[in-house]
Amino acid sequence: MARLDKIYLGTNTKMFKTIGNTKEFLTELNRLTSDISREEMQLFVIPSYTALSHARAVVSTEEIMLGAQNMNWAEEGQFTGEISPLMLSEIGIDIVMIGHSERRHVFGEQDREENLKAKSALDHGFTALLCIGETEEQKENGISDEILRIQLKCGLKDVAPGQAGKLWVAYEPVWAIGVNGKPATAEYAEEKHLVIKKCLTEIFGEEIGADLPVLYGGSVNNKNAAELIVQEHIDGLFIGRSAWDAENFNSIIRLVLPLFSQKKTGREG
Ligand code: PGA
Repeated sequence: MARLDKIYLGTNTKMFKTIGNTKEFLTELNRLTSDISREEMQLFVIPSYTALSHARAVVSTEEIMLGAQNMNWAEEGQFTGEISPLMLSEIGIDIVMIGHSERRHVFGEQDREENLKAKSALDHGFTALLCIGETEEQKENGISDEILRIQLKCGLKDVAPGQAGKLWVAYEPVWAIGVNGKPATAEYAEEKHLVIKKCLTEIFGEEIGADLPVLYGGSVNNKNAAELIVQEHIDGLFIGRSAWDAENFNSIIRLVLPLFSQKKTGREG
């Protein structure tokens, strides 16, 4: 099955859920979605570091992939407060998220570091979820496409096409994220996804680049999820606040699944 035959749906719980909250959330989400074939849907959750090993004990990779919100590129070293790929491997998680907007804009991470992290994550066998997105000012200055291309080309520098099999990209405009965010319109998101897809084919070639999942994130909710997922180049949704309640996440999943399969059927036909 080609990678894009399934929908990608996931959430990053940021600094919001304790170990107890995370276990409860995952158990409930898994129960609510247990009838949905994982051939149709790649479900993933990215909890806080402290919850990861507990989370792993609650759900399997086949049920819900688990990811870390950040990772240092080095296996060990004098990096107080950092977590290494070896530490994450030991827990048995699946994904490493790289360059989330809050890492870039609150903690000052740059493309150079995202690149080191992306290469290290892939070298250590994780799925690397690279997050990219322009700020409001960059959008207003009309340089969004340039910014996205820079973040991709610099963030993925020296990633071999052979390694790209485990690469996912999330397009998350900075101005669309969080409590003060304004969700991107479906048309705007689709336009940027096309820019991203084109850039990925430039980097990895037509065959590999076109097959990399690109997810939209930033104020996704029950109201806008449908119009986003029907867009041709949106392969999944990366959801914050609206997914932190398992029942609400489940209702979004139920809403977009049939729309995604119609889109897939339309493509095949
Ligand atoms: P939000 O978060 O859905 O709460 O805007 C998205 C994100 O930060 O990934």
